Amino acid sequence: MSQPLLEVEDLQVRLRTPRGTAAVVNGLSYSVGEGETVAVVGESGSGKSVSVLALLGLLPEGVATVTGRALLRGEDLLTMPPERLRRVRGRGVGMVFQDPMTSLNPVLTIGRQLVEGIRAHGEVSKADARRRAAELLGEVGLPDPQGALDRYPHELSGGMRQRVVIAIALGNSPSLLIADEATTALDVTVQAQIIDLVERLQADHGTGVVWITHDLGVVAGIADRVLVVYGGRCVEDGTVDDVLERPAHPYTRGLLGALPDLTQPAVDGAPPDLATVPGTPPAPTDLPPGCVFWPRCPVRADPRCETEQPPLAVVGQGRSGHVGPSGLPHRAATWCTETGSPEEGRS
Ligand SMILES: Nc1ncnc2c1ncn2[C@@H]1O[C@H](COP(=O)(O)OP(=O)(O)OP(=O)(O)O)[C@@H](O)[C@H]1O
Ligand code: SF4
Ligand SMILES: [Mg+2]
Repeated sequence: MSQPLLEVEDLQVRLRTPRGTAAVVNGLSYSVGEGETVAVVGESGSGKSVSVLALLGLLPEGVATVTGRALLRGEDLLTMPPERLRRVRGRGVGMVFQDPMTSLNPVLTIGRQLVEGIRAHGEVSKADARRRAAELLGEVGLPDPQGALDRYPHELSGGMRQRVVIAIALGNSPSLLIADEATTALDVTVQAQIIDLVERLQADHGTGVVWITHDLGVVAGIADRVLVVYGGRCVEDGTVDDVLERPAHPYTRGLLGALPDLTQPAVDGAPPDLATVPGTPPAPTDLPPGCVFWPRCPVRADPRCETEQPPLAVVGQGRSGHVGPSGLPHRAATWCTETGSPEEGRS
């Protein structure tokens, strides 16, 4: 297998808070191949946004401690000199944050922000960049793209601003796109249009995508692989079919609305949104010992649940087609799943 575009290994993030140190991301590892889309799902507060902000050096200085490795084409984003990281953020990586206003400069017109992004990427005249900017705004479904170029962010609605941020992120054909709830606030038609646009970008430029969302319809529509995160840990990852149709971990089954009957497949076609799992996630300042999910787990039975962190193990051995584009098998934190082999992950 060729080197993945992005390889995240044992990412850990600690944040200093008034209530003590918050262990927000706890050993997250995943990879994204060229042209591959990895969806990251999990409840609110599970560390999804913090994990991607950490990759890009965008967490507040003096508050966050980040360890691990995050190799973008073999180069570690976490140890890169700040100037180089700024350049990578400007050119190689497109980002759409949960709050569009954090990405837009309020004192510059939409057109200027788009044109600057497009021209940063290569030799493009101002006039061509402006034409391309209007085209991009049309492609993300903004009405009157030409007129929008001369408007300021505050003159647009929240959904329009989100589309502008998406247009800016896609404008310089990034090799990696990180989208955090990028289409959540948009109506389904616009959402579908944007997903089409991302897929075209992937086909044309081999862009790898990390797509954070709680919308399982979007996951089913866009993802090759799915990473399920709980308490800042991956509890399951696999191809979109494996995770949505044959979820192995009790938490994933809960999110898919399949609890408490764990003997049945979770879904007949993905539900539109994550289900509510009874109970609440742990505070990152007060993670339970052992399996982070045990206080809410309806199938906890093993005494190790309360004392040991379950390792990730391959599940569903022998099934055909369960290896995704990155070459990774379907894995789940396990001594809890019927099909899993707990000993496999423990070395
Ligand atoms: N700057 C910060 N300082 C202190 N704690 C923070 C900071 N940013 C996030 N957190 C905490 O880190 C945890 C994870 O937050 P994060 O924003 O990554 O969650 P999320 O999975 O993206 O949730 P959502 O689905 O609501 O966007 C939360 O408990 C949050 O309160
Ligand atoms: S390790 Fe135990 S508590 Fe955790 S998910 Fe598995 S069965 Fe549940
Ligand atoms: Mg978030």
